[in-house]
Amino acid sequence: MSANVANESEAPRHPPRHVAIVMDGNGRWATARGLPRPAGHHAGVETVRRIVEAAPALGIETLTLYAFSSDNWRRPTTEVAALMALLRRFVRAETARLAEAGARLTMLGRRDRLPGGLAEAIAAAEQATAAGTRLHLRVALDYSARDTILDAARRAAALPSLTREIFARLLSGDHGADPVPDVDLLIRTGGEQRLSDFLLWECAYAELLFVPRLWPDFSAADLADAVAWYAQRERRFGGFGAAPAAAAAPALTAASPAVVPSAA
Ligand code: IPE
Ligand code: IPE
Ligand code: MG
Repeated sequence: MSANVANESEAPRHPPRHVAIVMDGNGRWATARGLPRPAGHHAGVETVRRIVEAAPALGIETLTLYAFSSDNWRRPTTEVAALMALLRRFVRAETARLAEAGARLTMLGRRDRLPGGLAEAIAAAEQATAAGTRLHLRVALDYSARDTILDAARRAAALPSLTREIFARLLSGDHGADPVPDVDLLIRTGGEQRLSDFLLWECAYAELLFVPRLWPDFSAADLADAVAWYAQRERRFGGFGAAPAAAAAPALTAASPAVVPSAA
């Protein structure tokens, strides 16, 4: 988070507090360039750096990134190994920078199947960044929303009472003072229009934005466009209000038809 980040005061007036991103399209990005798929993951890590750096100035408080789904274990072992090695390097390399920038890193997902060194690197990063208040960066790794819900349901069975808030805390696996808010804006790059088992409970009223751009090409300006698009949405939560604002699709989606299926 360097000096060229826009001042916080320039954040839009109604920013999404919690943005979740399905970072999709790395493989296609590499294939289109005649490169092996891991080269796309490599490029995708650079995008993560850019986006994490840009998020606080846009008013984003919580950013949840889908890095590896529990179904991604189905991929060839060489790709999985390359991805895991990349993640370990990323976490180790970024820990100090995140702490310095006031970001708190936490992980959601299963830790027991992660290969050597990765779970330890994450635990160390969580500890080193625990005091961060400028951005809560959550990385979903070996993550399945349905498995997370099942696990929370099992633990909820032992509780004397259960509310949505308590259940949401069980899901987030986060024991910080403040509960993780629901997702306000979900972005999926790469053009697919599906959730792929990501944050199924937390996205109950999320605005959904599917953008054709592949993750390695996604820029800070694209994130700003997405936030500006979100700021124009009229969220009703089942009630009703004034006529919905004419929400222009952000520039990054303009070239693609039907990229904003949640538009009114
Ligand atoms: C997303 O990119 C990253 C992970 C799932 C780990 P993909 O690897 O799914 O890229 P595409 O969808 O094949 O292009
Ligand atoms: C979702 O992408 C998982 C991540 C981005 C980490 P996938 O590429 O695995 O999803 P599907 O297989 O296209 O649904
Ligand atoms: Mg994909």
